[in-house]
Amino acid sequence: MSSSLSEVAPHAPRLSTIWAQAAGGIIGAAGTMPWSVPADLAFFKKHTSGCPVIMGRPTWESFPPRFRPLPGRTNIVVTRALPAPSEGDEVSENVPEAVLHDGALWCSSLEAAIGLATTSCPKAPEIWIIGGAQVYAQALALAEVPGVVDGRVTRALVTELQVRVDGDRIAPRLGSEWHPRLLGEGIEERGAVAGTSGSLVSTAVAYRFLEYTR
Ligand SMILES: NC(=O)c1ccc[n+]([C@@H]2O[C@H](COP(=O)([O-])OP(=O)(O)OC[C@H]3O[C@@H](n4cnc5c(N)ncnc54)[C@H](OP(=O)(O)O)[C@@H]3O)[C@@H](O)[C@H]2O)c1
Repeated sequence: MSSSLSEVAPHAPRLSTIWAQAAGGIIGAAGTMPWSVPADLAFFKKHTSGCPVIMGRPTWESFPPRFRPLPGRTNIVVTRALPAPSEGDEVSENVPEAVLHDGALWCSSLEAAIGLATTSCPKAPEIWIIGGAQVYAQALALAEVPGVVDGRVTRALVTELQVRVDGDRIAPRLGSEWHPRLLGEGIEERGAVAGTSGSLVSTAVAYRFLEYTR
């Protein structure tokens, strides 16, 4: 075990990830999610509330402005082009290269984002990687991340939606070291899925909530 891992505090947060996927692992289409499933939004809110959430800039932009930052969570956005500081923006005391902008902390690497999450939310039990495809793939490949349990992502909450949709972003594949457990399942009667025109069409959506750990 490396010295950075052996120094993890007893109350260190777990590094976790969460997404919803349709058939074929589709998670996004044209910069958004091609469905609306209130039961999944409630699941996402229940698990991430009170914790820092880390996302890529396109995922941040996929939220309608009135819904961002996600309330009750420290929102951290990664981008290779930090927004130019504007009036009201602040530089983070903990991570000088981060900028507080538009109600979120913006920083220029995933490692910096996780560091920022551990220092700005020291009591949070979990740090959530909330997408999208690029950020999930990078986060799952990280090893020896300082300050988090086991130094890597050890938990993934995956909502499987029993729907077929077109999309351009795919969930990462979880290999055989990941062990699934069914947390729940149901049918969302108030669901909607993108039709051929791209606009949402009301339909019931069957779903399963799975927890993967490694
Ligand atoms: N189904 C779900 O649960 C779910 C969840 C989240 C998102 N989504 C969907 O996923 C799609 C977005 O995913 P995406 O793959 O296009 O984008 P993304 O993963 O959200 O973000 C990628 C962006 O993050 C920044 N970035 C990535 N790696 C970085 C690094 N190492 N250092 C600094 N910045 C880094 C870059 O931003 P810059 O270009 O600004 O440099 C990059 O363009 C949308 O359709 C969204 O709706 C689905």
